[in-house]
This record gives sequence, C-alpha cells and structure tokens, in this order.
Amino acid sequence: MLDLGCGSGLMGLHLREVHSLVGVAFDPVMLDAARPFGLYAELHQHDARVDRQFGEFDLVLSAGVFQYLDADEYGQAFRFAHMNLRSGGYLAFEAPACSEALREVTFNTTSHSLSDSVVAARAEAAGLTLVEAKLIPAIGAHRFRLLRKAP
Ligand SMILES: C[S@@+](CC[C@H](N)C(=O)[O-])C[C@H]1O[C@@H](n2cnc3c(N)ncnc32)[C@H](O)[C@@H]1O
Repeated sequence: MLDLGCGSGLMGLHLREVHSLVGVAFDPVMLDAARPFGLYAELHQHDARVDRQFGEFDLVLSAGVFQYLDADEYGQAFRFAHMNLRSGGYLAFEAPACSEALREVTFNTTSHSLSDSVVAARAEAAGLTLVEAKLIPAIGAHRFRLLRKAP
C-alpha cells in the first residue's frame, strides 16, 4: 500500500497491520518526523505531480493532500497514482468538494475544492475511473473518492 502525502505518519498509525507500507511526501521535515516511528517500510521524498514509479500497489491512499492541488495538479497526481497501481488497483482519497454548479473553487490560492464531475474527467484522462464518491459528514464538505485502474 502507498500512503501518498504521508506527512509525519498520522495515517500510518492506523495502518500498522499493512505489510510493506510505503510513504511518499514532498516535505522532508515531515518525513523526518515519521521515520522514528518505524511505520513505513520505505519513505520517499517526492512530489506526486511528477511521474515516478515506486512499485505496483493494490491501493494508493491519501489524506489531507488533494486540497493543495488544483484541477491540473489532480490530473498529474492521478497519473502518478496510475503508474504506481497494479491493474485493478484503487486510489482512495478525501478532499474538499464543491457543487457541480461551481465545478472548482479556490480559497487563498492554496486550498482547492473540485466537483465530482471534474474529478471524474481528470481521472479518466489519467486512466482511472471514479467508482464511488460520498460525503464525509465529520469533516465539513470533504468527500471520499474511490478510483480504480482498469483490471
Ligand atoms: C496536511 S499533511 C497530511 C499528512 C498525513 N497524510 C495525515 O493525514 O496526517 C499534507 C502532506 O501532503 C504532502 N504533500 C502535499 N502536496 C504534495 C505533493 N504534491 N506531492 C507529495 N506530497 C505532497 C506534504 O508533504 C505533507 O506531508
């Protein structure tokens, strides 16, 4: 499993049972904070907007990351996920979402909300299919999205 934008490893704490958990994030300070906990088999400093393969994973998971990406950058991160998934593998992430009427909303240039149809279109262009999207009531207007690479 690949934890995309693993940061200091808060999600890794919930994934202790996962064999060969790999973490990727571009912030070296957070990676240094994650290292002592020994939760990850590998930690890599890398920007998900740039193509690179670390393996062929069943699942790419991401929490607290896509909000920093605009629609074009979603496309780049989807390409990254696609090249790191096995055929039939899944990408699951949560992110702020906006309505279909608005399609994309940017706050303070760093926080982005995309509608499901914009996410689905960017996903298709990267070879992923949006198979599920649902509201996460506990975190405001965030939505959970599940995408699949063709089997
Ligand atoms: C708010 S932290 C979330 C950390 C962790 N996933 C959690 O749930 O606690 C955001 C993380 O995403 C990473 N990140 C943001 N944009 C990224 C990108 N384009 N490529 C790789 N990592 C990114 C940052 O380096 C940071 O580790």
